[in-house]
Amino acid sequence: MTKTYTIITFGCQMNENDSEKLAGMLEQMGYSPCENDKTADIIIINTCSVRANADDKFFGTLGEYKAVKKNSPKTVIAVCGCMMQQEVFRNEIKEKYRFVDIIFGTHNISEFPRLLKEYEGSGKRVTEVLEDTDYIPENLPCKRQFIHKAFVSITFGCDNFCSYCIVPYTRGREKSRKPEDIIAEIESLSQNGCKEVLLLGQNVNSYGKGLETPFSFARLLKEVDKIEALERIRFMTSHPKDLSNEVIEAIAQGKKICKNIHLPVQSGSDRILKLMNRHYNRDYYISLVERIRKAIPEVTISTDIIVGFPTETEEDFLDTLDIVEKCSFDSAFTFIYSPRIGTMAAAMEGQIPEDTVKERFNRLVAKMQDILSEKAKEYENTVQEIIADGISRNNPEIMSGRTPSNKLVNFKGNCRVGDSVKVRITEAKTYYLYGEMIQ
Ligand code: SAH
Ligand code: SF4
Ligand code: F3S
Repeated sequence: MTKTYTIITFGCQMNENDSEKLAGMLEQMGYSPCENDKTADIIIINTCSVRANADDKFFGTLGEYKAVKKNSPKTVIAVCGCMMQQEVFRNEIKEKYRFVDIIFGTHNISEFPRLLKEYEGSGKRVTEVLEDTDYIPENLPCKRQFIHKAFVSITFGCDNFCSYCIVPYTRGREKSRKPEDIIAEIESLSQNGCKEVLLLGQNVNSYGKGLETPFSFARLLKEVDKIEALERIRFMTSHPKDLSNEVIEAIAQGKKICKNIHLPVQSGSDRILKLMNRHYNRDYYISLVERIRKAIPEVTISTDIIVGFPTETEEDFLDTLDIVEKCSFDSAFTFIYSPRIGTMAAAMEGQIPEDTVKERFNRLVAKMQDILSEKAKEYENTVQEIIADGISRNNPEIMSGRTPSNKLVNFKGNCRVGDSVKVRITEAKTYYLYGEMIQ
């Protein structure tokens, strides 16, 4: 009987991409995916640590596997990802979760087959976490979630040290893959039916820094745009401080580059932006948004916002509401500030009481909803180009997909996942559009 695996992934697309590589390596070793999480021979949990609720979810999930290991001691339980890069969590696992067999980190994903062999040989827990690495493994097997769209990491790590953020500690210093490796990966994907790529990096705009032969993100976009069979190029995330005119120009001129920029603002207050170590102020951000909208009239801009950063006053928060209105974002991910051990902000005085933060958060969400429902109306009666991503869970006649502007569309239509279709939008809800396929 073939052995089976399951991988549970928390966090961002970087982690999703890492999990796809782990799945690829396991399949190369002869394992096949397991339908039921709890009966697999190997269970890997890939963790995220960006906010406290991510940590909590992981411990909740891990708790569920205690009984699995007890009933079936041969099951191998491995944990990896961003939480494992932090000593505090490794210690917690060591002390309270003795049934975990393999612990590894974000820098040695490619070493998993060796770690598994070591565990199988000794029957003793194997822990291997590297502080950082310059090594970028290429050509790892990768079991993709979809055929028609794919994640392509272009940089790893982050050098920005925003004062609230754990990522620079869990992912190490920023390093870029060589452009030829990225292009080769995308060419091969497109030859195998991939229509859409999402170029991934914590800050894609600084792509190329530190490469032997300098290469910019704008140039990379232009090169990827030339790949024949590809239909859509997306990218995230863009740090506002590094979004150059060349990049804006490349997006404007690209044939396949989606006119959609994820540009986290985080706060609208100059004082808070400074404390966050974001290296821009509100005027710069607003004028950047204006510049982008002028150069790319059909652009959509999405953002991330943190509410309740230490010392945030009502006035600071009103500045955030104001920037949201001025920039008229097409979508926003809103977060309640979560102190992360080891970051500068966690040690700051002036942590904001929970009820104040919640009240502000609700006001921000209400403001965003008003903007979104207003903007959504602009889509009504338009015809949108959609690539079908999936079939609705509740109704098999309904498909879902996204517009090039990244708006979610549920639609009635007779097509297959991965098909490019035209959909007439009949109804615009705040968070998604509804329509009917016309061809
Ligand atoms: N590299 C990306 C984002 C990575 S994390 C960027 O620079 O934009 C995704 C988002 O999580 C961030 O944009 C931020 O809004 C949010 N975030 C990060 N750390 C957080 C924390 N400690 N508390 C609340 N939100 C946080
Ligand atoms: Fe975190 Fe800032 Fe780096 Fe984004 S740019 S990953 S928010 S430190
Ligand atoms: Fe989470 Fe690590 Fe991504 S902390 S958001 S999985 S980089």
